[in-house]
Amino acid sequence: MPRFCFHERLSVAGNCRMCLVEVKGGPPKPAASCAMAVKDLRPGPNGEPPEVFTKTPMVKKAREGVMEFLLINHPLDCPICDQGGECDLQDQAMAYGVSGSRFAENKRAVEDKYIGPLVKTIMTRCIHCTRCVRFTTEVAGVRDLGLIGRGEDAEITTYLERAMTSELQGNVIDLCPVGALTSKPYAFQARPWELGKTESIDVMDAVGSAIRIDTRGREVMRVMPRLNEAVNEEWISDKTRFIWDGIRTQRLDRPYVRENGRLKPATWGEAFGLIKAKVSATSGDRIGALAGDLSSVEEMFALKQLMTALGSANLDCRQDGTKLDPKHGRASYLFNATIEGIEQADAILIVGADPRHEAAVLNARIRKAWRGGAVQVGVIGENIDLTYPTTYLAPARRRSATSTAPSSTR
Ligand code: SF4
Ligand code: FES
Repeated sequence: MPRFCFHERLSVAGNCRMCLVEVKGGPPKPAASCAMAVKDLRPGPNGEPPEVFTKTPMVKKAREGVMEFLLINHPLDCPICDQGGECDLQDQAMAYGVSGSRFAENKRAVEDKYIGPLVKTIMTRCIHCTRCVRFTTEVAGVRDLGLIGRGEDAEITTYLERAMTSELQGNVIDLCPVGALTSKPYAFQARPWELGKTESIDVMDAVGSAIRIDTRGREVMRVMPRLNEAVNEEWISDKTRFIWDGIRTQRLDRPYVRENGRLKPATWGEAFGLIKAKVSATSGDRIGALAGDLSSVEEMFALKQLMTALGSANLDCRQDGTKLDPKHGRASYLFNATIEGIEQADAILIVGADPRHEAAVLNARIRKAWRGGAVQVGVIGENIDLTYPTTYLAPARRRSATSTAPSSTR
C-alpha cells in the first residue's frame, strides 16, 4: 500500500492521502485507508458485506491525483538529494507519477532550518507528512518539532530555530519519506547502492541494538537501525547512529614515548621495544590489565593469556566503578525482565541510572509502556526528566521526601 504519513509505530495522521482506496457501499469517493477502521465500514446498499478495493481504476486515478499535487511543490532535485535511491516519493512516483505537470505557477520554496548538527534540512522537499513531529512528541517525548502555518505557508520547524535536543533525533532521518531531513555528517558522502551492508549489533551502550553498518571500501559511511522487536524495535540512539566519524577521524595513529617528562613521537618498533623492556623488568604481581568497554572477546582472551604468561592475576574490566561481583552471580547483571517485557510491567523502579542518556532506546520503551497504560515509574538516584512522569523516591544513598518530576506529553 503506498503511503507517506502512515507509520506502524506512530499515531495515525491521515494527511498525505496516498493510501486512498475504494470502499464498496461507502460514500462514492476514495477513502484514506490508514485512517479507516473496520468498524467504520458499513454494509452495501443492499446489505452486502463491505468491500475494499485497492487496484481499481478509481483508486489509481485518485492516487495519481495525490501524487500530482505532491509533486507540484516538490523541487524534484533528486540528482543532488541524499535521499536518492531510498526515497519513498521517488519510488511511489514510479507507480503513480506522470511524465509532465499541469502546474504553470511558481513553485513554493521554504527556507532551510537549522535544527542541530546531526540532522540536515532541505525544507522545500517536505511533503508535510508530520512523521517527524509525531516521532519526537510520541516516541522521543520532547516537543522539538512542530508544524506551523496552514496551506502554502505550512512549515516544519523547531519554532525558534533551536537545535533539537532529543537523544533519539537521528531516527527522523529514517522516518522522513523524502529528502527534507537527512543526515548532516553523511551529507553528499555516498549513494546507497554503492555501499556494502553488514548486519551487526551496537556496542555503544548496553542495549545491544540491531544495526546495519554501511561501508564503502574500508570506510564506515553510516550506521542504520535494523528491526528487532525484542530490543530496539526500529529505533537507535544518536550515539549509535553517529559514532562512525570517530572511527575515521582523529584516530591515535602515532605512538609517543615519554623521555625526561616530555612526550616524543616514536615509531611502533621503539614503542613496543620500550614496553617489552619495562614489562620484562617488572614482576608479574606488579602488573595489572584493565579491559576497555569496547574490547572484543578475542582481544580480552588474548590479554588474559598474555597476563597469565607474565605471571599476573590482576585482571579487571570495571574501570568505571561498576558494582559487578562474581560472588553475586549472573542474576546481578542479567536484565531478566527483558526489554520487550517492559511493556507488560505494572511498576518500574530505576535505581541509580539515567536510562534517557545511558540507554535511550530502552528509555523510549519505558515511555511506550507509560503511554500504553498506567505503569508507575519510581526513581532512586538523580531526579531527572526521563520524558515521562516518575515518582522520585530517594537520592542514591539517603532517604528523602517523595516528589514528582515534571509531567510530559503522553
Ligand atoms: S520533514 Fe520529512 S518527516 Fe517531517 S513532515 Fe516533512 S516530509 Fe514528513
Ligand atoms: S498514509 Fe494514509 S493518508 Fe497518509
